[in-house]
Amino acid sequence: MAVDPNMSNLTVLGAQWGDEGKGKVVDLFSEHFDLVARYQGGHNAGHTVRIGERRIILKLVPSGILRPRKRVVVGNGVVIDPAALLEEIDALEAAGIQTTGRLFISNRAHVIFPFHPLLESISEKRPGRVAIGTTSRGIGPCYEDKVARRGIRLADLLDRESFRNLFRNLAEDKNTLRAAFRLGEPLELAKVQEQYEAYAERLRPMVTDTARLLNEAIAGGKRVLFEGAQGAMLDIDHGTYPFVTSSSACAGGVATGTGVPPSRIGGVVGVSKAYITRVGGGPFPTEASSEAGQELREHGHEYGAVTGRPRRCGWFDAPLVRYTAMINGFEALVITKLDVLDHFAEIPVCVGYRLQGQPLGEMPATNQTLSQVEPVYQTLPGWSTPTSGMTSYRALPGRARDYLRFLQEQAGVEIGAISTGDERRQTILIRGSKLEKLLQG
Ligand code: IMP
Repeated sequence: MAVDPNMSNLTVLGAQWGDEGKGKVVDLFSEHFDLVARYQGGHNAGHTVRIGERRIILKLVPSGILRPRKRVVVGNGVVIDPAALLEEIDALEAAGIQTTGRLFISNRAHVIFPFHPLLESISEKRPGRVAIGTTSRGIGPCYEDKVARRGIRLADLLDRESFRNLFRNLAEDKNTLRAAFRLGEPLELAKVQEQYEAYAERLRPMVTDTARLLNEAIAGGKRVLFEGAQGAMLDIDHGTYPFVTSSSACAGGVATGTGVPPSRIGGVVGVSKAYITRVGGGPFPTEASSEAGQELREHGHEYGAVTGRPRRCGWFDAPLVRYTAMINGFEALVITKLDVLDHFAEIPVCVGYRLQGQPLGEMPATNQTLSQVEPVYQTLPGWSTPTSGMTSYRALPGRARDYLRFLQEQAGVEIGAISTGDERRQTILIRGSKLEKLLQG
């Protein structure tokens, strides 16, 4: 029987509310893969990479671009602000990282226009609306247009005549809305159209049928690493709706967001902090007291890479990770930022939820219920010794190992790697783990 190359692909995604440190994990793992592909989200995601003296925030381009021989793909499930993408490409090129012939963008990806962030303010700022606390990048309104079947895709943008017609209709609709809601000045649509036509010419060489590119690569024995943005609890279907992003951040999104069929997706790995954070509004059962939260924030540098907003911080929530493990089928967990907990004498871990005094066996579907649950904590002793930069599991303090074992038991998923700092080498890969096998393919 022929060897099935398909199962050697891997998806890496956040097991919490995003910002779990996936960028570093993807960068590290990409060594084992030929291509890295994004499948959802837009420039609402982001992580900072250091290239020599420069700091670049990668928002749309997968971090695999940092490794010279890898090809990277921005799939059809991603929404693209051409200005943001081109700015990122320019920053990469200026840092000596070649993108030509290595970066491929789906011709079916939808385009963000300046009216998208403008209209976002209708839902975010109008009195009486529930403010989601979005990143204000126009992500939600762009996906709205996609689902409403009036969106404009890169393939349309590249076809000047069809673009002009589609743009005129879409933009006139938006100007009407803008006027009705008395939002700012009318957009100079002719100017926007001209600007986007110029973007189209710069993007043209990179735009292609990436589903075909990926499927042909897989058929040819190449390995693909799929990179999730945001986190499973921000997934439009499975997250804490309505405090979610507008795309399928879960593993299920890989198939629709890249055109690689479910039978060829391969393994799934979840990334979780050793504690938890969230940005924006929404229920957060294990949010720490202001003092402990502040300590986690300062030690963990918990400020958004894209918006600079302080992140809300709290304790590891095992019921939440059990839930995201179920939805995504995590075969291994990577625990990041263990070293942030070096500073705590005691570390609470949420092992279950109670609702009106009764144990709750499932993740509540509504944010009203989730905001009422009482977390049941088990408090573990801290290790109060620096673990920052450690690269050996055995060298970790005994209490740090106990803590990790406890998380593993509670999450019900094997921990395959632990990150102890920002840099690639500040990582512990557990020998003989399932993760090690998944990486070897
Ligand atoms: P949007 O994706 O900008 O529509 O924002 C929707 C929600 O997702 C808000 O709570 C954001 O803070 C959150 N969000 C979006 N992207 C990220 C991310 O990369 N990390 C963490 N939270 C995010």
